[in-house]
Amino acid sequence: MKHSTKVGIIGAGPAGLTLALLLQRKGIDCIILENRSRQYVESRVRAGLLEQNTVDLIRELGASERLDKEGLEHHGVYLSFNGVRQRVPFKELTGGRCITIYGQQEVVKDLIQANLDRGIEILFEAHAKHIEGIKTDNPSIFYQHNGEEHELTCDFVAGCDGYHGIGRQHLPKDTYNEFRIEYPFSWLGILANVAPSSDELIYAYHERGFSLHSLRSETVSRLYIQVENDDTVDNWPDEKVWEELSIRLGTEGWSLQSGPIFEKSITPMRSFMIDNMQHGRLFLAGDAAHIVPPTGGKGLNLAVADIRFLASALTNWYENQDDSLLQSYSQDCLRRIWRAQDFSNFMTYLFHKQAPHGSFENLLQKSKFDYIGISKAQATTIAENYVGLKEI
Ligand code: FAD
Ligand code: PHB
Repeated sequence: MKHSTKVGIIGAGPAGLTLALLLQRKGIDCIILENRSRQYVESRVRAGLLEQNTVDLIRELGASERLDKEGLEHHGVYLSFNGVRQRVPFKELTGGRCITIYGQQEVVKDLIQANLDRGIEILFEAHAKHIEGIKTDNPSIFYQHNGEEHELTCDFVAGCDGYHGIGRQHLPKDTYNEFRIEYPFSWLGILANVAPSSDELIYAYHERGFSLHSLRSETVSRLYIQVENDDTVDNWPDEKVWEELSIRLGTEGWSLQSGPIFEKSITPMRSFMIDNMQHGRLFLAGDAAHIVPPTGGKGLNLAVADIRFLASALTNWYENQDDSLLQSYSQDCLRRIWRAQDFSNFMTYLFHKQAPHGSFENLLQKSKFDYIGISKAQATTIAENYVGLKEI
């Protein structure tokens, strides 16, 4: 069956859903193809930290009703090294910017609802198989839906289909350089029905490994722990998880509250990017083009930042027949992507155990940590990167 639209979007993650809403506001038709069910994407547990820029965009899109009610604004973060804890305050170091804690699956639910309310078509369980004609004015996405083969012809294809999607596979290999680090550790993440033991996030180095205390609400805590790459959740019964978290996050005069764990999964840690995100009429955005280790909380925020550029570029093309922003799309995105790559890599090396306790590398880690407390310049560097730079 043949269909047509102006912009064919592959993927109903944060990138695809925000792109569709921005285009719809400008009267540019689009269709989203998503290979999972609505229920699956709305319950996929991932990120939780939203930069101010991301919150601002969701507000601009008129999809922030629940986020404004339930999102938790944080004005600082705790950093800990072997039990010594210090706080980086955002307000005074970043001119009043902050972060908001609100689960990615809640963002996705709100954005899906906003898309459907505005009549944007999202085809769930529609598997994009391949893309043809990206060097022509009418590329097509071939996909399967309800057991039938379909072709969606469009002016542009937006590959918002994540790291494992098909978008990136259609960029000719000789148009980009690829950069990759596979870290020698993973994160075991849990969600638990227990009030958070801290009012702000805690990133902790410990000689037994990294851990992170985050949260989702006043009654749900989200915590992570550094594990080996070949580790499995079966090795981590609930009591062992709490015991280990309590040691790694511990500091004098503070204790970690435990409670029933209802989600447990292991995620590998990776830095990945390509330095060109477009070819002809195909444009990639979000995890399809780059992955950062979650230590900086940047992945979702970068995906949304790409979309701001892509939506402006497409709008400029439709409204003014001007392709200059489309031409500069990759370069415009890459400034922020490189910054986020550097910050995420810095946070990862600062807080993870990679060298023996007391080794030269480990003592450099400690010196970097101590420097945050000594130098306002260093604390500012962390704060402004963490809340998200306005300038790029
Ligand atoms: P995705 O969310 O991956 O969406 C892509 C969509 O495309 C998916 O729904 C997929 O099903 C669909 N798709 C794929 N292939 C096809 C196909 N062939 N046809 C049709 N559809 C297809 N980021 C932060 O900013 N802050 C954090 O605190 C944070 N913490 C994280 C913690 C963990 C444990 C993990 C795993 C990630 C974290 N991230 C964080 C990263 C963040 O979740 C991702 O960067 C974000 O989901 C990227 O959005 P996206 O829209 O680009 O891709
Ligand atoms: C989360 O709440 O899931 C979270 C927060 C900060 C990170 C990563 C994940 O750096």
